[in-house]
Amino acid sequence: MDITPSKRVQSIGAYAFAAVDAKVGELKARGITPIDFGVGDYAQPTPQFIREAAKKAIDERASYGYPSYIGDASYRKTVAAWTKKRFGAELNPDTEICATIGSKEGVFNFHEGFIDPGDVVLVPSPGYPPYKRGTLFAEGIAHFYRMDPKKNFAPDLDAIPAEVAKKAKLMWINYPNSPTGAVLKKDELKRIADFCRKHEIILAADEAYTELYYTDQPPPSILEVGKEGIVTSFSLSKRSIMTGWRVGWFAGDKRIIDIFKKVKTNVDSGTATFIQDAATAALSDEKHVDELRKETRTKRDIVCKALVDAGLPDCTPQSTLYVWQKAPKGSSGIDFAARLVEEAHLVTTPGEWISDTLPDGSNPGAGYVRFALVPSIEECKTAAERIRKLKV
Ligand SMILES: Cc1ncc(COP(=O)(O)O)c(C=O)c1O
Repeated sequence: MDITPSKRVQSIGAYAFAAVDAKVGELKARGITPIDFGVGDYAQPTPQFIREAAKKAIDERASYGYPSYIGDASYRKTVAAWTKKRFGAELNPDTEICATIGSKEGVFNFHEGFIDPGDVVLVPSPGYPPYKRGTLFAEGIAHFYRMDPKKNFAPDLDAIPAEVAKKAKLMWINYPNSPTGAVLKKDELKRIADFCRKHEIILAADEAYTELYYTDQPPPSILEVGKEGIVTSFSLSKRSIMTGWRVGWFAGDKRIIDIFKKVKTNVDSGTATFIQDAATAALSDEKHVDELRKETRTKRDIVCKALVDAGLPDCTPQSTLYVWQKAPKGSSGIDFAARLVEEAHLVTTPGEWISDTLPDGSNPGAGYVRFALVPSIEECKTAAERIRKLKV
């Protein structure tokens, strides 16, 4: 009997980060422990008060069944209060918020509610893989758009052909942006919202990184621009060092949330309620977020200064966990990442691996590598010494 994967699964290339993991394994087999700037997952523990809140909740909620699909009422209320405080945006916790098992689940499954075979989805390149994988599994067509490095990596809306915009049903944006670290101002977000409204495109904003910023002003949310035809995805993963807990939410236009709830109820289950309780505790505290920002900023400054000292262009990000570093002139991202592994024992992600080819045939990740600022400050200092020794 032949066991064959479906055409959808066959069409998926290797998950980029699996290849990064393999590289780390190779080095380890040679007795070398590299400093791993590959995958954007924290090495430090989730803050203790969040872990304590989860422990308490397990006992307090000793007998309960399946968690609510859409999120416990207290969690949704806390999300609404936090959104109001942070962004000044009003959300009705009963109708405009739905809990998710983190962004990946939410983003991937979202397409099932809105995309019919052949519908176009506007997807940033480089971008978080579930935008395009979710599109593919819903049998939609991903149109990869360029973010202009000369315009702070804002979407190049003028380059989206009119006939594509006409067919598009959904547009993903991600600001603060992974991996470029770009933050857009409110007027730039409004420009995108206006474009979507004009073409009747649902605007979905992945805002997983709004709290990891190094700018004077906190980055805005798309919810500050409006709610009609708009939805945002948020996650506790990066804000509160909760990548392993799987908790986040979608919020925005009630009509969109209604459809998303219907998808969610049929596809998976809710996040365990004691995890929602821990997330509620996390959202009630800003001190740990402030500390995380300071720590990540210190790492950013150490690594980016070393890259500049080594003779590379200054690519210091305004936000996120990532440095989207230009490789030396004439070098591909893959070549530079290979040199970083061999000569400095640093694992990074080549830009080509996390970018898709644009309609004009170019790959916007070509010539970049991504550093995820997850090693400790001490490790970043060691990495900086090694980076300075590179001959670029
Ligand atoms: C753009 C973007 N969105 C969301 C996430 C986080 O996803 P999750 O909430 O599933 O942990 C990541 C993680 O790397 C990301 O890069």
